[in-house]
Order: sequence, then structure tokens, then C-alpha cells
Amino acid sequence: MEKLILAIDTSCDETAAAVVQGRKVRSSVIYSQILMHKEWGGVVPSIAKRAHEERIDWVIQEAMKKAVVQHDQLDAIAVTYGPGLAIALEVGIRHAVELAQKWGKPLVSVNHMEGHLYSPFVQNSKGNPSRTFDFPYLGLLISGGHTELVLFKDHLQYEILGETVDDAAGEALDKAARMLGFGYPGGPVLERLAVTVDNTDKYVFPRPMMKSGDLNFSFSGLKTALLYKVRKMSDEEKQQEIAYLASSFQEAVFKTVVKKTEKAMVETGIHHLLVGGGVAVNKHLRTMMRALAKKHGGYVHFPALKYLNYDNAAMIGVVGAIRAEKGLCIENTEKLDRVPRLSLLQSSI
Ligand code: KG4
Ligand code: ZN
Repeated sequence: MEKLILAIDTSCDETAAAVVQGRKVRSSVIYSQILMHKEWGGVVPSIAKRAHEERIDWVIQEAMKKAVVQHDQLDAIAVTYGPGLAIALEVGIRHAVELAQKWGKPLVSVNHMEGHLYSPFVQNSKGNPSRTFDFPYLGLLISGGHTELVLFKDHLQYEILGETVDDAAGEALDKAARMLGFGYPGGPVLERLAVTVDNTDKYVFPRPMMKSGDLNFSFSGLKTALLYKVRKMSDEEKQQEIAYLASSFQEAVFKTVVKKTEKAMVETGIHHLLVGGGVAVNKHLRTMMRALAKKHGGYVHFPALKYLNYDNAAMIGVVGAIRAEKGLCIENTEKLDRVPRLSLLQSSI
């Protein structure tokens, strides 16, 4: 019988809880703080902590209620312990530990990025999508905090092939949007602007690290290229060109990501791709990744948009169920601590 898990994630600016049975989501409740952070141009840790504390009990109760589950039915409780904001992670961990002790349930710790990697396999309550695991995969994790190419060898077995040496792709999109006068999060704004000019690459910004020979990324130089271009423009010119600037910047980020993914496909011989993380919402990136997979005779799995638009606990629950199945539970729950810079490798078995 598939494990019944209550999962909690408070890694950044969403307070999330979910109940899953194996890969099937019985409930997923998310309380987003995006509007609270918007005016500050990014996530403010102290505001995030307070908001998590105010909402977490309600979010957990709702998840249990919607799933129509009593706590004695649960097999385990899963919680994200990193990477993320330390004071935000602590809130979820503290509640998970308390509930595990109170209800006498095993506790499972999950890496947030591991959740994103598994997110294409999250199913609705009816079991869709019905895709099965067919390892190995090449995973692209692309979010506000991460840009990583991962060799996903088997369940819970990861190898990092490449990662960003400075800004993450989503962070670069957010910073570019801010430079163009928009708020957080910037990715969706750039996407909308780029669509209005058919994703034209008018300015052909540099493709960073293309010749580096490895599978790493770097996006901070690209940001500087945009800054110089914008500085030379009058306000009027900038307004006229804004969609082209947004589109060219997005294109430089995505073309770099696609090229590096292709290099990884050639080097590993793995043509089946998984894409996870907030930036994977982008339709243009999805089209590019689908074309790349097709070119090499492979396919690409994305998460259902429902489990992608926001960080969620359903993906954490799915990993939690697999870990619980393998008996990978925390022995001394009191000792579970947050690891803000937790690497996927540390979670590999
Ligand atoms: O995974 P996520 O919700 O949080 C992190 O763990 O970072 O990702 C957030 C990132 C932000 O940088 C945001 O600008 C980006 O995902 N993002 C997008 C889109 N929607 C969100 N980037 C490009 N196009 C989008 N439609
Ligand atoms: Zn995330």
C-alpha cells in the first residue's frame, strides 16, 4: 500500500501543506506571500517568517480536512529542511517535529530541490499523469535560487553535472525585470512582454559560459550587459524598446540553458529530460525544451502547472512517500535542523 504522508514546506515565500498517497495528491494547500513581498522587490525573510507562523496551523488543518484524513491514518510526516531561508524553514520543521511527536509518527526530511525534480511525477487523485519512472533522466532545475543540471540515476540518486556559478536563471530574470522598472517576480513579466514581440532576439545579448567547456552557468555578466544597454537609452527610447529588451534578455538566458542541456545530453547519452522549478512555467522555455528533446529522439516531462506555479508541498510529499517506503526516516527528530544551502548531493542515497 502506498504511504499516506502529510507534507509541509516553508522554504521561501509560500506556506504549503499537502496530503499524498504515494504519488497521488489528496490535498494541496498553499498560502502565497507574493503580494506581501512584491513592494520590497524580493522576499523579505522577517516578513516571510512571521507570515509562515501566522498561517501554518491553518494550512495544515485545511490539508488534512480536504484530504478527509485523520492523523492516526498517516504513515509519516515529511518536511522540507533545505535549501531555503533559514528562519522560514525553521517554522515548518518545528511544526512537523511537534506533530510527529504528538501523533507518534515517523518524520522524513526532504530536500526542496528533490521535490522539484520529482514534480513531473506528481499525480492528481485519479492517478494522472500516468507516466512511470524510466531512469535515468537528465533533470534541469531552474528557479529563483537554482540553475542545475542533474543526472537523476534512480530513485533518490542524484549527481550534479553543472550549476550556476553566480545568479540563478530566475534571479537573473527577476533582476532584469527590476532594471526595466517592474516588480517581483520578474519572470512572468518578461514572458508577457516577450510574447508581444514574438520572442524576437533583437539585441543578441551575450550567451554566458557557452565556451566554458563544462556544464556550469553564469548569469551575472548578462545582467551587466542589459544595464549598459539601458543606460545608453533615453527614457523614451527605453519605453519604446522595452518588449525587445525583455525578449532579448529572456532569449539569452534560455538559449544558454538549452545549449548546456544539449551538451549534457550529448555527453551522457541521456535524452529523456525532466524540468522543474518556477521558471519551467514559461511557455517559451517549454517549447524550446520540447524541440531539444525531439531533436535527440527523447522526450521531456514537465510538472502539471497546478504544481508548478507556486512552490507546493505535494512534491515534497511524493518524495516523502518514497523515502518512507525505503525506511529513510529521521531517528532523532529533535536533531532535525534546517540546512539553508543544502545540496542535492547531500540528499542522494
Ligand atoms: O521555484 P520558485 O517558485 O521558487 C524558488 O524556489 O526559487 O521559482 C521562482 C522563480 C522566480 O525567479 C520567478 O521570476 C520565476 O521563477 N518565474 C518565471 C515564470 N514564473 C515564475 N520565470 C519565467 N517565466 C515565468 N512565467
Ligand atoms: Zn521552489
